[in-house]
Amino acid sequence: MKFSRVLLALVLVMAGSGLAASPAAAATEHKVPKHKVTYDKYSLMLDGRRILVQAAEFHYFRLPSPDLWRDILEKEKAAGFNAISLYFDWAFHSPKPGVYDFTGVRDVDRLLRMADEVGLWTIVRPGPYINAETSGGGFPAWLKTVPGRARSSAPGYTAAYREWLAQINPIIAEHQVTRGGSVLLYNVENEYAVNTDAAYMQDLQDLARAAGIDVPITTNLCCDAADWSSTWASGLGAVQIPGVDDYPQSFDCTNAGKVWGPWGTGITERVREDSPVYAAEYQGGAIDLNNAGYDKCRELTGVDYTRYFPKSNLILSGATALSYYMGYGGTNWGWLAQPNDVYTSYDYGAAITEARQLTDKYQEYKRQGYFLRAAAGSLTKTDVTTAPTAEGLNTAARINPDDQTQFVLVRNEGVDQVSSTLNWGGHALPVTLPGHDAKVLVGGYRMGGQHLVTGTSEIMTHETVAGRDIALLYGRDGTAGTTILRYPARPRVTVLDGKVRTSYDPATGDLRLDYTHQGLARVLVSGGGPRPLLLLLGTDATAAQFWRADTAAGPVLVRGTDLLRSATVSRGVAALRADTAAAGPVEVFADARAISVNGSPVATARRTASGSLLGSLPGPRAVHLPALSGWRQHAEAPEAAPGFDDSRWTVAGKDTSLSLFQPVTLPVLFSDEYGFHTGSVWYRGRFTASGGETAVSLNAITGKRGNYLVWLNGQYLGSAAGGVELDSEEPRNPNPGPGRFTVPAGLLEAGKPAVLSVLVQNMGHNDDWTADDNRFRQPRGLVGGLVEGATAPITWRIQGTGRIDPARGGMNNGGLYGERAGWSLPGFDDRAWARAAATVPAGVTWLRTGFRLDLPKGQDTSVALRFDGPPPAGHRVIFYLNGWQLGQYGADIGPQTDFVLPAGLLREDGRNALAMAVIATGPATVSTPRLVVVGSQRGGVPVRTVPAPERL
Ligand code: GAL
Repeated sequence: MKFSRVLLALVLVMAGSGLAASPAAAATEHKVPKHKVTYDKYSLMLDGRRILVQAAEFHYFRLPSPDLWRDILEKEKAAGFNAISLYFDWAFHSPKPGVYDFTGVRDVDRLLRMADEVGLWTIVRPGPYINAETSGGGFPAWLKTVPGRARSSAPGYTAAYREWLAQINPIIAEHQVTRGGSVLLYNVENEYAVNTDAAYMQDLQDLARAAGIDVPITTNLCCDAADWSSTWASGLGAVQIPGVDDYPQSFDCTNAGKVWGPWGTGITERVREDSPVYAAEYQGGAIDLNNAGYDKCRELTGVDYTRYFPKSNLILSGATALSYYMGYGGTNWGWLAQPNDVYTSYDYGAAITEARQLTDKYQEYKRQGYFLRAAAGSLTKTDVTTAPTAEGLNTAARINPDDQTQFVLVRNEGVDQVSSTLNWGGHALPVTLPGHDAKVLVGGYRMGGQHLVTGTSEIMTHETVAGRDIALLYGRDGTAGTTILRYPARPRVTVLDGKVRTSYDPATGDLRLDYTHQGLARVLVSGGGPRPLLLLLGTDATAAQFWRADTAAGPVLVRGTDLLRSATVSRGVAALRADTAAAGPVEVFADARAISVNGSPVATARRTASGSLLGSLPGPRAVHLPALSGWRQHAEAPEAAPGFDDSRWTVAGKDTSLSLFQPVTLPVLFSDEYGFHTGSVWYRGRFTASGGETAVSLNAITGKRGNYLVWLNGQYLGSAAGGVELDSEEPRNPNPGPGRFTVPAGLLEAGKPAVLSVLVQNMGHNDDWTADDNRFRQPRGLVGGLVEGATAPITWRIQGTGRIDPARGGMNNGGLYGERAGWSLPGFDDRAWARAAATVPAGVTWLRTGFRLDLPKGQDTSVALRFDGPPPAGHRVIFYLNGWQLGQYGADIGPQTDFVLPAGLLREDGRNALAMAVIATGPATVSTPRLVVVGSQRGGVPVRTVPAPERL
């Protein structure tokens, strides 16, 4: 095929460039010093300096607009994360054996470079198996036709995964921190705990080393020690830093507000004595197993959960490397979804929504993330110590053996608020915790140039700005707070804002501040220590108004704006890149005299009593979206007609397959056997009628959410739900996805040819979570077909995805006629189509319209396509924005009614084409969708249109 030659050429060009770095990577290499990564039982170290790795998981393949990758990376960084964890999805890059694409939305070299530019380390997870609710768990579907058990050292599988790793490893190797790039850790396999093969696990590592990977190798174990048969802590296949996955709230989002973990232990266990504790995936959201909608998943894993479980884990486990799954979930566009667990959206209830909006949970990550960053020097080396006590509350503590800093976890395990006294180092500190709350308090700590003795406010951050320390502490609104600092001489204390009582004890040097957390109190302490201190005492909400960024001239602290992306300070001007969702004040603490935001000077800036600059910023401009009108409609499915020419279709006549599933009838009709792996497939079965035919009996396995439609001699017989087959542990289902359709009297005539046409809506492919080959090799398509009363055999032909789109890739399109004929593409000329009617017949009908956008420039507007009302039961809609398949809507598919249209695919300044394939199981009324704004901020990142063909 023409396309595969193009791709092959591409692969050869890449291979031919030898693994020489791309020019940009080479430039990075020259600019940035090369680092050395080591570790001990406490933490990772970079050039001998301990580091606390805080990562958020991000899937580039779920955001098909590379310019927007930067938006997400900057948002993660702004929350205090210093790393991102990345799966690489083999299936996403390889539509066929030997064919690999790393261009456009698949340009992972660009992704790794971008992470470096943004200032994030990366934890790379190239599988080969990744799970991740992505089709096949990352296995390309063509692997189903390769002999040898997957995730083992069987020769067939070995040759296949070596092909993938030979592609991806060299790209990763170039970007390691050891060569001046972003890659800090290399993860092999995924939750590889049962049916394991140590030789395979070892080979993955040997291949990585041979490809020049010299950063530590890790793996992620699931989910609690009792279930592990392999921990990869020693012996053949052992990794240097085994990590552990924990999902305390599990995945039933209908339980939001009703459950409070822990599913498993919720505490990351130590697996090796000589390597740090690594929380490889700590729950940051959930898949929506029971169609509750992702808002419920965000609630299940909301701010309360995030306050309690991650903080508990930090102190109880001593983890110094952690990653939240997911930081940003994204979209299962095309046929990316593994259908048993997910539908189009992979929002995940994450801290950043699928529409790239920041949530309350994001602010909780930020409060904790800034703290981890600020305290990393002490937190990266701690041992368990005796904890101070507080009646009615649960406490635990760790201590740094070198600088003696103490970290105390205070938790309220119950649901009612508890007010108690924390007895810590001879101090009686009043402390109040609402139900299910947790705090990490710090004592004996060198806070910049200050000595923090103890206290009951949590530290969000402390920075040294222009020769002065600024510390931002916080507590729940309305609760009591105490902070005790120590000074050799009585300091001058000025309360600039709020109510704070202070007392100084010359005998101990302790300055005690007592207050109620409320609004934002400001206290200036000077003359007592080496540097003055501006103490900011906030609540969860007022603390969250702050942002920090590093500049060459030291850190900058900003109050206000809705996102600080980065800052520079030069010639007395603090230049911020920031987003605003509404007009409001901005206050900047920097060694500067003036402020500019997104290139525009902030004219009203003035100096405050706190020494900051205060100005005000405009909000975003109003956004006007056009109504979607002028729909045109066209009937499809010529394949159903008896006279349709299928002579170029593939003959489906195999007797055997590598699936562990035995077909109900022969020949084998499994679509993967004939090279059709994605979305819908058509079958046409011919036989000579006997006249005595009574019923058509079919079986199909589509994966959850799929169905199939049946025609005989052009007459629609009906539809059935596709089968799911069963889990490996359960007995085999002899009759999966059954459909029995009565043959109408008089339709078939003895001795005349008859044609059976079947459209199967295959969903994505199953995963291989338990490494048993069974679930993963489960077929798609028809698995049985006979006509009761027929005397002649049926000869079958099959057709699926036609030409693979060179930009949108092998997972964008299935084999609907309209997809094969380019009806989904923006350049298709639909002028001959009729004006749309509200109703469609059973079968496939296409609708198309266009719309022009002129969104405000310099503004990040997130647009979604909204279908009003609950998803319909009798039909499903697959829609394409400018040719990109961005969603599937229908009651059989999931609860989703809003579908995000990412900028880059959405042309924000120009014409857009929207196409919808409606697959109806009976006559249906179709309601057309509308465009809605799901977020708009002044700011954002520049986004270019992702190039892709306009027509076939
Ligand atoms: C983990 C797995 C991830 C993802 C997650 C659930 O067990 O490692 O890939 O599947 O569960 O979303």
